[in-house]
Amino acid sequence: MNTVIYPGTFDPITNGHTDIVERAAVLFDKVIVAIAASPGKRPGFDLAQRVALAKTVLGHLSNVEVCGFSSLLIEFARKCGANIILRGLRAVSDFEYEFQLAGMNRCLDADIETVFLTPSMENTYLSSSLVREIAALHGDVSAFVHPEVASALSALNGQQ
Ligand code: COA
Repeated sequence: MNTVIYPGTFDPITNGHTDIVERAAVLFDKVIVAIAASPGKRPGFDLAQRVALAKTVLGHLSNVEVCGFSSLLIEFARKCGANIILRGLRAVSDFEYEFQLAGMNRCLDADIETVFLTPSMENTYLSSSLVREIAALHGDVSAFVHPEVASALSALNGQQ
């Protein structure tokens, strides 16, 4: 059985992330969406909120599991029995960082491969921080995130 782990900060999960997970759910037996605590990124949503939102958004996919983690990704992947790391590549600008991440993870465990998927064109320009910024300035984010995430962003910004 091929279990793939899709790590990220997901602050919050966007349609671009969902796009990647839906593609992976077709290709792999099991997909673990691993939400990193990422304290260095000073997330707008705490880890429990990010996990709950991702569970809601991805609830229609039966072979997808959502977990939070605060350890090394490679350790968490081993613990979950995942032999593949999945990352999304939106544009050439993502490549350098992703190349470095994949290389470092390979140094830490050569048995875990990193693979990449690309989202559909309309999701290539999306990023969580831009969505947070638009929401904070009272812009409409309904084209970029699930309605539950849009509500959570409104609540975060004291609009509810
Ligand atoms: N659609 C829309 N946006 C996407 C996307 C997609 N398909 N793929 C990535 N993004 C965006 C994210 O929203 C995020 O935007 P933001 O920076 O504006 O918030 C940005 O791209 C990159 O974020 P993400 O994919 O969440 O990656 P990350 O760089 O925050 O996470 C980890 C990197 C969590 C995988 C990495 O830090 C990690 O492995 N941490 C665990 C600790 C560890 O093992 N460290 C050693 C690594 S060698």
